[in-house]
Amino acid sequence: MTTSLQEAVTVIQDKLTDQPSLGLILGSGLGILADEIEDPIYIQYKDIPGFSTSTVAGHKGQLVFGTLEGKTVIAMQGRFHYYEGYSMQKVTFPVRVMAALGIEKLIVTNAAGGINEAFQAGDLMIIEDHINFMNDNPLIGPNDEQLGPRFPDMSSAYDQELQTVAEQAGKKLELSLQKGVYVGNTGPAYETPAEVKMLRELGGDAVGMSTVPEVVVANHMGLQVLGLSCISNLAAGILDQPLSHDEVIETTERVKVDFLRLMKTIIQEL
Ligand code: HPA
Repeated sequence: MTTSLQEAVTVIQDKLTDQPSLGLILGSGLGILADEIEDPIYIQYKDIPGFSTSTVAGHKGQLVFGTLEGKTVIAMQGRFHYYEGYSMQKVTFPVRVMAALGIEKLIVTNAAGGINEAFQAGDLMIIEDHINFMNDNPLIGPNDEQLGPRFPDMSSAYDQELQTVAEQAGKKLELSLQKGVYVGNTGPAYETPAEVKMLRELGGDAVGMSTVPEVVVANHMGLQVLGLSCISNLAAGILDQPLSHDEVIETTERVKVDFLRLMKTIIQEL
């Protein structure tokens, strides 16, 4: 393990009462799930060596450890984005830390624009696969064989079993869930209508500015990953209206009850 990873793990382990089995990355407007964690222990990002600080509205900057639906979890309330100017390694460092703390499963959530014209703002989507459109990869550079292989397999980047758990949770709650391919773009500008059309042609169903780097590193470290997108808006050019971060936050706010119910039902079944 690199020294910075070991340092971060030591600082966090000193504060925890148990080993977490499940990691949660909570995206824009979705951090409220961390407020449901029982007997919470909060660790500010600024107090963890190697962590950056989250600069985006709607993102807090802390780890929350505790119990959720009977599982020992560690949640990132707020994440780091490539567009904030952090390197891919910085963006994904928390995933390495959570894996080193002992999690086996990771649920990654985000707000995304719907590319698929059958989607509506407010839909929840199970991520089946992704397209890395960021022109960078967090694994570029020397490989630490102790963390994972040089050439990790990405053919089941989003665990099939966990997708089924999510699907069944949706059925149980009578929520109709979408399924599809998430495209990771760097942002921070939203896409142009021409880019959205291209991404649709390439097989994308939703587009966002996160998730892909974290899921690459989670696969490198052998974690089972579930990805869920909240379709916060339809991507550019689909409706005759401009996109805004306010709309993203408004939609996540509107669907937060369904999102919370879905996440809790999934976590119960893990
Ligand atoms: N594009 C990219 N990222 C996003 C969007 C979008 O339309 N909505 C929320 N995150």
